[in-house]
Amino acid sequence: MAKESYRHINHLMPPKGWLNDPNGTCFFKGTYHIFFQYSPDWKERGWGHYTSKDLLNWKYEGMPIHPDTKRDLSGAYSGCCFTDDGKMEIFYTGNVKKPGDFDYINEGREHNVIYIESNDGVNFSQKKVLMENKDYPSDMSCHVRDPKVYKKNGKYYMLLGARTKDSKAALLSYVSDDKMHWELNKKYIPLSDMGYMLECPDYFEIDNKYVLSLCPQGPKNQEFRLQNMYHSGYFLFDEDVFSLADEKIDETVMMDNLKEWDYGFDFYAPQVFKTEDGRHIIVGWAGVPDAPYHNEKARNEGFENSLTLLRNIKTVGDKLYTYPIKEYEKLREESVDCKKEGGLVDSYSFDCEITFEDNTKNAKVSLNDDLILSFEDGVFCAKFNNESGAGRSARKMKLNELKHLRLFMDKSILEVYVNLGENVMTMRYYPESKDGINVKVSDALNTKIWKVRKSICAN
Ligand code: FRU
Repeated sequence: MAKESYRHINHLMPPKGWLNDPNGTCFFKGTYHIFFQYSPDWKERGWGHYTSKDLLNWKYEGMPIHPDTKRDLSGAYSGCCFTDDGKMEIFYTGNVKKPGDFDYINEGREHNVIYIESNDGVNFSQKKVLMENKDYPSDMSCHVRDPKVYKKNGKYYMLLGARTKDSKAALLSYVSDDKMHWELNKKYIPLSDMGYMLECPDYFEIDNKYVLSLCPQGPKNQEFRLQNMYHSGYFLFDEDVFSLADEKIDETVMMDNLKEWDYGFDFYAPQVFKTEDGRHIIVGWAGVPDAPYHNEKARNEGFENSLTLLRNIKTVGDKLYTYPIKEYEKLREESVDCKKEGGLVDSYSFDCEITFEDNTKNAKVSLNDDLILSFEDGVFCAKFNNESGAGRSARKMKLNELKHLRLFMDKSILEVYVNLGENVMTMRYYPESKDGINVKVSDALNTKIWKVRKSICAN
């Protein structure tokens, strides 16, 4: 067998170039839209665009938003789509780099909130600047970005991630009657222990709970959590926190209470949207900014990064489980001849489910001996033994019991779902073998593997 391409087939990935955050994810007039931070030439970023009717088959629609005005010329940065009022209304950050210090003062960078609208999701209006640096609280640095807009009790709210002039993470909350004129909803919320910067806030209601999703930069790494350069997690509230006193948020929004969306090496900046049939779906960037890993093997083939699989969100007590949407099961082709100990898959793409006995104390899964997934003494670990991890080493998390694993392998990305979405680990993995991937499992009750060959997107 010839060595396969590392280009993913079941994860959204543009025809060429660099991708980062998902943007403006929504369902609008019968179509799903996923925009994303896109740089075809690894330089300034704009928005790339995918559409789908069924969440499984996607069409690449090109790059509808370019950094082409003087208010976003260094990047049409991340933002959201608001669709509650019958139009597609996009709010994003126009980044303009100026001479000077980008990080601490207001002169070095403009971060503008820019608005465009569309009636069909294809043709977009001219850009309109809604807010600029002078509109933010005076103790903010020039880092204020990634608007999330939502509607509650007839009013519109906007959340923005920020960094104060004395380098503390902050969350700004604005309110508006018409989406065009915005006032600070309340004093900004200083997030005392959340590092120096906050990016990509999201906020949604599910099963009578309110979820605030944040990406803090700066908090220290720990042994079993917060292991990446930057983090991504959520807080659950019983009430709509942005119409309550600030203190309620302060009490809960502390790093100790942050629940991570994903414990792998490669996950950041997720967005959540609702499907036509009421499911909440989360999709992230399978990457982390400034991460110390090298992805030359992908770059050599002309691309870098993809989005994660779309994951369905379910509340279980005070936790959110995330698991691939059921649509992906349609991708399963013939099953591999597999005993409970695993099997050899003659390609780099497969979907695998492993069931363990009750009260399993130890378990091990190895992929070509490149990557070992183990469960021992209440710790689940993913560890690369060689360069197939491209600089990635090990990620660990505490786990009470191991009942089920789902491994979704797609050319050079692996998503590991523990106990049907209780926890997830996403990682880039570049297998070298020409014979495919040998999945070896110990202490399982049952292992099933299906080959996956169909691509979800004809680029
Ligand atoms: C997060 C982020 C956002 C910003 C975008 C730029 O990865 O840094 O804060 O809007 O990427 O591409």
